[in-house]
Amino acid sequence: MNQGTLQSLLVEDADKKRLEELRAFVIYHNHRYHTLDAPEITDDEYNAAFQELLRLEERHPEWRSPDSPTNRIGGQVLSSLETKAHTRRMYSLDNVFDAEEWQGFLKRLDNAQEGLEHAFWCDPKMDGLALELVYENGRFVEALTRGDGEVGELVTEAMQTVRNLPKVLHGDAPERLEVRGEVIFRRRDFALLNERLRKENLKTFANPRNAAAGSIRQLDTSVTASRPLRFLAYGFGDVRFGGVQPWSTYEEVMGRLRDFGFETPPGGRLCRGSEEVEAYYASLSEKRESLAYEIDGVVMKLNDLEAQEALGYTARAPRFAVAWKFPAQQATTLLLDITVQVGRTGVLTPVAELEPVNVGGVLVSRATLHNEDEIRNRDVRIGDRVVVQRAGDVIPEVVRAVLSERAPDSQPFVFPHVCPSCGQAASRLEGEVAWRCVNVSCPAMIRQSLAHFVSKAGLDIEGLGQRWIELLVASGRVKTPADLFTLRVDELLHYERMGVKLATKFVDSLDRAKKEATLQRLLCALGIRHVGEQTAKTLAATYADMDVLRAASPEELQNLPDIGPEVASSIKAFFDDEPNVALLARLRELGLWPVRQEAAVASMPVGPLAGQKILFTGSLSIPRSKAQQMAENAGAEIAGSVSRRLNLLVVGDEPGSKREKAQALGIRIVDEAGFLALLQADNEVTASSSENAAQDSE
Ligand code: IVH
Repeated sequence: MNQGTLQSLLVEDADKKRLEELRAFVIYHNHRYHTLDAPEITDDEYNAAFQELLRLEERHPEWRSPDSPTNRIGGQVLSSLETKAHTRRMYSLDNVFDAEEWQGFLKRLDNAQEGLEHAFWCDPKMDGLALELVYENGRFVEALTRGDGEVGELVTEAMQTVRNLPKVLHGDAPERLEVRGEVIFRRRDFALLNERLRKENLKTFANPRNAAAGSIRQLDTSVTASRPLRFLAYGFGDVRFGGVQPWSTYEEVMGRLRDFGFETPPGGRLCRGSEEVEAYYASLSEKRESLAYEIDGVVMKLNDLEAQEALGYTARAPRFAVAWKFPAQQATTLLLDITVQVGRTGVLTPVAELEPVNVGGVLVSRATLHNEDEIRNRDVRIGDRVVVQRAGDVIPEVVRAVLSERAPDSQPFVFPHVCPSCGQAASRLEGEVAWRCVNVSCPAMIRQSLAHFVSKAGLDIEGLGQRWIELLVASGRVKTPADLFTLRVDELLHYERMGVKLATKFVDSLDRAKKEATLQRLLCALGIRHVGEQTAKTLAATYADMDVLRAASPEELQNLPDIGPEVASSIKAFFDDEPNVALLARLRELGLWPVRQEAAVASMPVGPLAGQKILFTGSLSIPRSKAQQMAENAGAEIAGSVSRRLNLLVVGDEPGSKREKAQALGIRIVDEAGFLALLQADNEVTASSSENAAQDSE
């Protein structure tokens, strides 16, 4: 055997070993992702392994095997759900990651079929659970998950609960129609769901896609029903209209799907020529963060259906369509340490100190771990490789640990029950997830609450940044917001890098803030729990000054729009706290004592239903217009539809779908008698708004 042959045998050996490794890796992570809805690695890492495997199999066609994961599209079937074969296989999509690869795709099309028109239906690639709905003679009969592409899980009952799913198709319906699309969560709904799960101490979902999958693949469909899922249609399987397939372009298909009553991916359109496609990709990737849905790329589908048919499929994906993916918003890195930060209300927040990593173009070195329970639920440990995620302007978070790479000697993190800043014992109230430092002179808390006091969300005092707060607190000169207003130019000159000019500006801007502060801004600046912008506005329009507000009972506060029991008791607790009372007295002495602005009062609604959004449905014994007039006279605003912002739904006979929708959103529902009673007794209706208010806490 000569040297060259030996060499190539060795390379071949290494390749074979790598191939097997990659197959095992891809199969394992396929299972985590598709079957367990609990991925361990990022999409990027999965893609890299998958692409490497594809390349190896291309180099060694003799090693190809029907068992290779490159011949499957992932997803196995949970034994607990019934399964069924798809009439037509549901394929995956091939990916491209940049303009060059996109051009490569076009070249392959041209090579396969000469003279092809480059017209593509482009729409956002929705990040949810792929699904097929079956309609017979216009009626919804069955829903199947994609599963492994050949066999899916029957989730008909779960899909019945999805509110935008047409049960009966509008217009002329085909004998049989298989509609394909994605079940998704809107970002906001997803955030609310996780917040609720977190509050109930339940496991949260890593992303909207997992949440959608976890909600549909449920044996208990009442869980599904309680979740605001949506179905977006983007394709079809088998379709028979008088025995034939009736459409000739994708554009036509999408139009028909909408006519039938389906919601389709927002912003989809026909792009002619590669430049238009590239512009579409660019514009969508710019808008990505502002969309209501999470998307992870753009899908381009050849518009001509006959040409699609001619091009056909590879083992896993169509040749006529491709997904152009966005750069990942997730990355893995090393968790170097977990530190604990003290917020202005004393909440102890665990922070992941990370080996800096680029996540979708931003260098991330710190990320939130939320609270003690979340660290435990996600089983994240110092020294782990972790997946970090950022989305929009949300603080980056650690999603999970890569368990398969965990060091054998790693230990669970022990959450400190003392304040890391002042060393005093922290406390965790019943029903709360957060540990809090309750020491009113904790320096970290002082720093944070001062920072909040001067920030844009508070009095918006120019030039007073984090550095100055730290210096002033460290020197002991400033302990409360009131101390700020006693600073003099001469004493400020003792601080490093402070000259006369800057010191004068400093004092002037504090003086201006003091004179210009409104009651609303001061209320925000104080950082009362649960009192955000909107609540502060209401309070500032209702009470003449802080003293009058302080005297208000929780019952009285609850009569105001947007204030429920939780908010009212938090306001009360603030004013019952001695240091807060002392602070207000000092602010008053120093001349920071805003009073109610009468202009704001004039625009405030009054009456037992003041500020409530209310809607009537079904038939009442009094005319609808009369009921609406009565509600308006009581200070209510008449809403046009059921939405999260609605406070009250009044139902008459045969209320229809509005009632279901309101129920699902947890909106208060009363009948006619209940409505009339509310016009008399007036302090209950605000109870349902406490949930909204809770979000502007902290
Ligand atoms: S079209 C013939 N359009 O992404 C092409 N698929 O990762 C069939 N997906 O299996 C699919 N958004 O489940 C298409 N706007 C969109 C999509 C989309 C998400 C899913 C689809 C596919 C998977 C591939």
